[in-house]
Amino acid sequence: MFYPTFRARRIRGKEVFRRMVRETSLSVNDLIYPMFSAAGQGIRKEISSMPGIYQQSIEHIVEEAQEAHELGVPAVILFGIPETKDAVGSDAYAEHGIIQETIRALKKQVPGLAVITDVCMCEYTDHGHCGIIKDGDVDNDETLELLAKEALSHARAGADMVAPSDMMDGRVMAIREALDNNGFKHIPVMSYAAKYASGYYGPFREAAESTPQFGDRRSYQMDPGNRREAIRETRMDVEEGADIIMVKPGLPYLDIVRDLREEFDLPVAVYNVSGEYSMVKAAARNGWIDEERVIMETLLSFKRAGADLILTYHAVEAARLLKRG
Ligand code: PBG
Ligand code: ZN
Repeated sequence: MFYPTFRARRIRGKEVFRRMVRETSLSVNDLIYPMFSAAGQGIRKEISSMPGIYQQSIEHIVEEAQEAHELGVPAVILFGIPETKDAVGSDAYAEHGIIQETIRALKKQVPGLAVITDVCMCEYTDHGHCGIIKDGDVDNDETLELLAKEALSHARAGADMVAPSDMMDGRVMAIREALDNNGFKHIPVMSYAAKYASGYYGPFREAAESTPQFGDRRSYQMDPGNRREAIRETRMDVEEGADIIMVKPGLPYLDIVRDLREEFDLPVAVYNVSGEYSMVKAAARNGWIDEERVIMETLLSFKRAGADLILTYHAVEAARLLKRG
């Protein structure tokens, strides 16, 4: 392939050619929209570090979910901001907890929309950690019981899929067993398989009010330097019955997305996390980047890296842009 016989620019010369030979594309079917459901009524509070994203009470969640659904977004993933938090995260598995009530409202009012739930303790514990604290650290095995209870209560409320994000060892098996033994064999588990201890979660913790009150999450989330470990972590989840595997964060971990794509044949999801969203919004507000272009290029990069599904706060705006074409 030598110049001048071959000219790479020939096929780039017309938009119609570029469209014909494009190797990857983004579809609205790939998008999952994260939402923050707050206990109470009449709440719609913008998260200061995430312009366009809100903590909202159920009636507003339903409204925005309806809009997402009409734009063709297939699914939302829910995070809860409960009325009260305690040491064991009781609201996480309460029959009338914030998420359970949100699921019921969504399944009733927007039945065509898939409702996925984040299964973790940190939004519901007063100490902000993803599990039960014992001797100053999160106790793995005791936490498993609560996670299983939480996932089961989501399924009972009508959740279509559960997504554990806690990073305890054995959680997929514990959740799978609880679902199977209680009539929910058909409910898939999307596991946050390779989840790194990341500074990019900062804005989310403001949104979910889930900042750890002491220490950090490095004893359970993965170390950012590790690549082989992502395969090992993910293999555990696959063997325990995960249906979809996830990499999180997204942009700084595209190599891991590619690794999981090549190693496993399950659908791969990637979480374009809060800090990634905030950086785009901040730069756009300063007029430093072309916002729409950067959003679409970012989402396409996840597909090119090998992801099938993208959890992103840009889902609704991206759906609108895809529609406009
Ligand atoms: C809870 C959870 C977090 C995110 C999703 N689920 C935060 C964390 O682990 O601290 C982060 C999402 C984001 O930053 O957008 N375990
Ligand atoms: Zn957590």
